[in-house]
Amino acid sequence: MLLRGATKRFDGRVAVDHLDIDVADGELLVLLGPSGCGKTTALRMVAGLEEPDEGEIEIGGQVVNDVDPKDRDVAMVFQSYALYPHLSVEKNIEFPLRQRGLHADDRRRRVREAATSLGLADLLDRKPRQLSGGQRQRVALARAIVREPQVFLMDEPLSNLDAALRLQTRADIVALQRRLATTTLYVTHDQVEAMTMGHRIAVLDRGVLQQVDTPSVLYERPANVFVARFLGSPGMNLLPATLSDAPSPAPLCDAPSPAPLCDAPSPAPAGPSSCARVAGGHLALGGEQAAAARRAAELVVGVRPEHLALTPSGTLEGTVVLVELLGADVHVVCRLSDGTELVVRQDAPAARPAIGEAVRVSAAASSVHVFTQKSGARLGGPQ
Ligand SMILES: Nc1ncnc2c1ncn2[C@@H]1O[C@H](COP(=O)(O)OP(=O)(O)O)[C@@H](O)[C@H]1O
Ligand SMILES: [Mg+2]
Repeated sequence: MLLRGATKRFDGRVAVDHLDIDVADGELLVLLGPSGCGKTTALRMVAGLEEPDEGEIEIGGQVVNDVDPKDRDVAMVFQSYALYPHLSVEKNIEFPLRQRGLHADDRRRRVREAATSLGLADLLDRKPRQLSGGQRQRVALARAIVREPQVFLMDEPLSNLDAALRLQTRADIVALQRRLATTTLYVTHDQVEAMTMGHRIAVLDRGVLQQVDTPSVLYERPANVFVARFLGSPGMNLLPATLSDAPSPAPLCDAPSPAPLCDAPSPAPAGPSSCARVAGGHLALGGEQAAAARRAAELVVGVRPEHLALTPSGTLEGTVVLVELLGADVHVVCRLSDGTELVVRQDAPAARPAIGEAVRVSAAASSVHVFTQKSGARLGGPQ
């Protein structure tokens, strides 16, 4: 399934901007982005419910721009379930098969199979109002799979479920998709859902594709500051910075502490080691990062909360403004001299600082990402 340059405007405003996404056969690709970024519009273009202003949609190798929604061989699952309230579970699931004029015996068999696979076999006589939210969404899923379509389109199907049900239904959808190996485009604004469900994730911001790759590549090598911030809970810490050479032995970066300052852990192969000056101190850069950082005058450096630590030899100075105990870990929020806030993730048993305490924060040079301030694009970072 393919979107090629798919573009949609509403009243002259671009909702989806030349979107290129290639979903492989059998793949579950998650379209991820904040509310209003164009996810539903993209999905509706694939379904045929929205006509692209530009670009092409391909399903099974065929351009389907001129094909009616009902002939596209896609099944859609919505956040709102969209069940028929006056029909039983059985009739709801059966509905698309009736429309297709399937024989009654075949209909019954396929409805039974789909209902059984989703744990609905005992509920076939009930009406939607007699079901929980999770059961209703499973009926909507059963109605989608009973059609045996080429493509599943799912638009935030878990959003109306409470946390426990969301977890369960998420696992159900993953298992179902793996078993059926049906090509799936799954829309969500929830990065945890995207990270746990997607074979690959396409990140969208204001209608524009930011990056499409596996969850681990997105997390470890985000293409820009938007992706860096959007993935992770909380997202990557981002600090405006300028590059500063640190020819050894005299440390150039003016941190007051006696600790050795700008020493990259491994000697940079080319040129002197460097550091990124930020409000409240600096961060040492590895050789690869330093070389990349030279390509822009104004930088943003990024470090994930789990790669920061509170240590007396830290090269950043800050003040603790918040300590959040989350059970297994603790988020310590530190404010730097320019007001930027930095989240440090600690293991729960670690000594927790007090609010208002002055602390020092360190990061391993190898964990620092470098972006250009101008466009936010990645310049370098962990490989
Ligand atoms: N039918 C419509 N008419 C006008 N504007 C629309 C319509 N549908 C969506 N939009 C606008 O297009 C943008 C993308 O919307 P949508 O695709 O629903 O985003 P998402 O699903 O990511 O929240 C939003 O600015 C939204 O207001
Ligand atoms: Mg939407």
